[in-house]
Amino acid sequence: MTGWTADEMPTLEDETVVVTGANSGLGREGTEAFARKGATVVMACRSVERGERAAAETREAVPDADLEVRRCDLADLESVETFAEGVREDYDAVDVLCNNAGVMAIPRQETADGFEMQLGVNHLGHYALTGHLLPALRASAGEARVVTQSSGAHEMGTMDFEDLHREQSYGKWSAYGQSKLANLLFTYELERRLDSADVGDVTAVACHPGYAATNLQYRGPRESGSALRLAGMKVANAVLGQSAAKGALPMLFAATADRVSGGEYVGPGGLLDMRGHPEFQRSNDESYDRETARRLWSVSEDETGVEYGLSA
Ligand SMILES: NC(=O)c1ccc[n+]([C@@H]2O[C@H](COP(=O)([O-])OP(=O)(O)OC[C@H]3O[C@@H](n4cnc5c(N)ncnc54)[C@H](OP(=O)(O)O)[C@@H]3O)[C@@H](O)[C@H]2O)c1
Repeated sequence: MTGWTADEMPTLEDETVVVTGANSGLGREGTEAFARKGATVVMACRSVERGERAAAETREAVPDADLEVRRCDLADLESVETFAEGVREDYDAVDVLCNNAGVMAIPRQETADGFEMQLGVNHLGHYALTGHLLPALRASAGEARVVTQSSGAHEMGTMDFEDLHREQSYGKWSAYGQSKLANLLFTYELERRLDSADVGDVTAVACHPGYAATNLQYRGPRESGSALRLAGMKVANAVLGQSAAKGALPMLFAATADRVSGGEYVGPGGLLDMRGHPEFQRSNDESYDRETARRLWSVSEDETGVEYGLSA
């Protein structure tokens, strides 16, 4: 797959793709690439206004883009459920679900359901969304894929089940790392459960974008009011970041390439895995730990009340 680009994606006519965080960064670029190949893209955004603005920009680039913006706030389980119900009602099937939205290194906040925000949005919201959309994914005429966007930052994460929501001790980066490790544990556990339930027509794949210059790096400094950190992030983005379009490639490859199997991890293969074209990679050892993954699954069931009906 040396030098794989979005041009190599197959035609996606008659396919429905759901992208979370579709109004910005990797989600916006991914939406454009899916639309260019003929997919119907449901843009799951926490702000319909920002979503519509991004959809208008996408239509400038792809005039016949088939896009629909719907509200989905991953920091609110009720919003996630309402969104998923609407999609199940209005679409025959979902062929690709990109669990892409995320927040990074923000001051401690809680979701509507009292979850620490980074774990709540990045993992628990997507856990609930995927569970609610599973019937629609199973209804896909071909293979359906659940692609979850993790990060190289999973390596600085550890699952602290004693203080999962970091009420006793909060570090913005360790909480981000935990949430991105959770993305991987979730993906690999989902794949094992789909496999053992013989739901072979739905597969789960993880990816990461390396380092892409997007809005992700700015929200934390803005919310903590740190002009210095914001300036530092702007310099880092300009010097180290690849474009959002490049950063979206691993997600697009994971979502559409034939040679991808469930349980794989795709990331950019260039300098320090921070840039370049997609390749298959291995995430850290903890992310493959089955006991931790089973425990996270069970905690995610309890916290969200969403059960997939897939046994361990
Ligand atoms: N950029 C990188 O270098 C990098 C590296 C590693 C991993 N990642 C991962 O890539 C993913 C996409 O990030 P990005 O770089 O494209 O950042 P971005 O430009 O900031 O986009 C993040 C998206 O997530 C959405 N979002 C945030 N909170 C949400 C919520 N409560 N409900 C629904 N959507 C919400 C944002 O919506 P609003 O616009 O409304 O805030 C935005 O659309 C994230 O999961 C991130 O962890 C990125």
